[in-house]
Amino acid sequence: MTLEARARRVLSPVLGNYTWLPLERGEGSWLITTDGRRVLDLTCGIAVTPVGHAHPKVVKAVQEQAGKLMHISAGVAKYEANVALAEFLRGILPAGMDTFVFQNSGAEAIEAAVKLSRQATGREGVIVFRGGFHGRTTGAASLTTSKAAYRRGYGALLPEVHVAPFPYPLACRIQPRHDAEACAEHCLDEIEAMLEHEVPPENVAAFIIEPVLGEGGYVPAPASFLAALREVADRIGALLVMDEIQTAFGRGGGWTVAERHGVRPDILTLAKALGGGMPLGALVAPRALHERWPTGTHGSTFGGNPVSCASGLATLQVIQEEGLVARADRVGEIVAEELLPIARDERVREIRRIGAMIAVELDDKATSKAAVAGALERDVLLITCGSHDQVVRFIPPLNIAEDDLRKGVRGFVSAFKALPAATPARA
Ligand SMILES: Cc1ncc(COP(=O)(O)O)c(C=O)c1O
Repeated sequence: MTLEARARRVLSPVLGNYTWLPLERGEGSWLITTDGRRVLDLTCGIAVTPVGHAHPKVVKAVQEQAGKLMHISAGVAKYEANVALAEFLRGILPAGMDTFVFQNSGAEAIEAAVKLSRQATGREGVIVFRGGFHGRTTGAASLTTSKAAYRRGYGALLPEVHVAPFPYPLACRIQPRHDAEACAEHCLDEIEAMLEHEVPPENVAAFIIEPVLGEGGYVPAPASFLAALREVADRIGALLVMDEIQTAFGRGGGWTVAERHGVRPDILTLAKALGGGMPLGALVAPRALHERWPTGTHGSTFGGNPVSCASGLATLQVIQEEGLVARADRVGEIVAEELLPIARDERVREIRRIGAMIAVELDDKATSKAAVAGALERDVLLITCGSHDQVVRFIPPLNIAEDDLRKGVRGFVSAFKALPAATPARA
């Protein structure tokens, strides 16, 4: 029986599947299937593996740590990998982001951010942004509005969550078409209206925002919007939580987008690339804020597991040694150059990029799924995002060889050009 047939028999159909590729192993930017096919991975396992698969330094760190200490729990005893990762992160994150609580995933880091914000401010309200994705656990799903499907059928979620608009001009109902700065101004007006009509400012514990919508479509917020949000948060005594789970460690073109845009968060949430392929999340905040979080009111058995921390530290060291944060913009530029032949196609609504996050927003899901399927036929793995899966996203490893990257994007372009004319065109 094939791997796919076996998987279909025993794994829950609740999981969405971008593909059913049967994998044997990963090697740098490449995936190798059980029948020996080599596929270029432009997904990084949903924005996780920034230095590619099975990087020798990461594998060595994982093997050594597994042979020394695989688990003890950060609350039971202290161990080097956990503390060393926190120390390294202190050196690369924005000033003041100096104290860490490790978790297992992004959703857990977000849940922790809600808990800390509520404890520290004594307020309950949380303002999130339409199109945001913060995870699938019940609390995180309460904050997630990238697709209604993530909330459908789950009944009442977390109370006191309010949704503000995110500056996403293409999705904005207001006409005529306007740019991101104009859209941001309108969003800020809406936030002021929310504070006047729906949620009293003194009830707001935190704003929680992705500086670049990830699952929501790879949409960067203008720096001016984030800076203005910082001012609103300060004015009303709320915290600013920046969810950099998808954007940090080079992906958004800086160690963090917060730092790139010069905006100071009160809390950063991290995951994905943080563990270099092992499950790991973190909540980061200044020590003074952590000190307002009573000891013993939050914790985790596995959070900050030794092997995950060793993997994460080795990965971040490779990023630093190889100057991969600085390379991210170039990676994005190369993808954009290779996309030029389709940039003016009438089915391409917009090409966006920040760092090594590149989006091709198409008319609809039928077009994006057909283009991605065509790319896979050409041995290039891509995935979609956006409220209707209408966006094809490119998430290459930060150390991908230029030649591989160019060929990979050309594979997508050739698949896109080969789409049958019957594919629905924009109205
Ligand atoms: C910005 C952002 N926040 C939170 C999450 C949830 O992370 P996890 O899937 O590790 O729970 C994701 C995952 O895609 C994400 O992109």
